[in-house]
Amino acid sequence: MKIIGFSAGVVDHDSNTDRMVKAIMEKSGYESEFVKLTDLNYSTCKGCVWLCAKPEVCKLEDDLVTCYQKVKEADAVVLGSPIHFRSISATMSAFISRLWGFRHVNFAIENKPFVLVICGIGHRKETAEEDFRKALSPFKVRILDVVKYSSRVPPCYRCGRHQECSIGGAYKIWGDKAHTLTITPELFSRWEDDAKAVDKVATAAEKLRKIVATSTQG
Ligand SMILES: Cc1cc2nc3c(=O)[nH]c(=O)nc-3n(C[C@H](O)[C@H](O)[C@H](O)COP(=O)(O)O)c2cc1C
Repeated sequence: MKIIGFSAGVVDHDSNTDRMVKAIMEKSGYESEFVKLTDLNYSTCKGCVWLCAKPEVCKLEDDLVTCYQKVKEADAVVLGSPIHFRSISATMSAFISRLWGFRHVNFAIENKPFVLVICGIGHRKETAEEDFRKALSPFKVRILDVVKYSSRVPPCYRCGRHQECSIGGAYKIWGDKAHTLTITPELFSRWEDDAKAVDKVATAAEKLRKIVATSTQG
């Protein structure tokens, strides 16, 4: 029994998105593999369906080549995305688009259990969950659970210019106080310190554990 997790968490950091994907897999108790999509180089689907229709797998040659078989063979999949522009990130959206080969004539990953993880600043109403579900709906996968976490960690905490900016997330959270704000490690909220997030991760892992156990019994 194997679970594969793909995260589009921010590059060069072990982000909340990454750690939630890993924790859900680990807590399920099954063998798992983690792939950080932002470390890979790949394009979105280019629409060359005459190439992927027959083999039922994408034929573009980039860093995603090794991922398709892993998705097909896994008993369950965990996908994690930060919220970008109130939706899933383009990195995650491009990844899902490249699974298009799995829906020619046959639904190659129909009913495969998926858990979705979404992390964002969370200061406005988001449509990320709806967009995540819509992107996956052509594949007829089974969405077991959606785990959301509002970290209130805007990109501005890493950009180095928050004190001179009145448009970014730091300004939206702090107002004029952002102009004198010193970025300290404590500002980088961690889901592990949030009881509700911890609960949600445990619940998703438990659902995964049960469903994978059931599907492999019969
Ligand atoms: C280009 C871009 C757009 C973003 N748009 C949103 C947004 O619309 N809503 C939101 O809550 N967060 C938004 N964010 C913030 C990220 O979701 C947030 O910084 C990220 O979740 C932090 O990573 P982590 O929680 O996985 O550690 C955006 C970040 C970037 C880089």
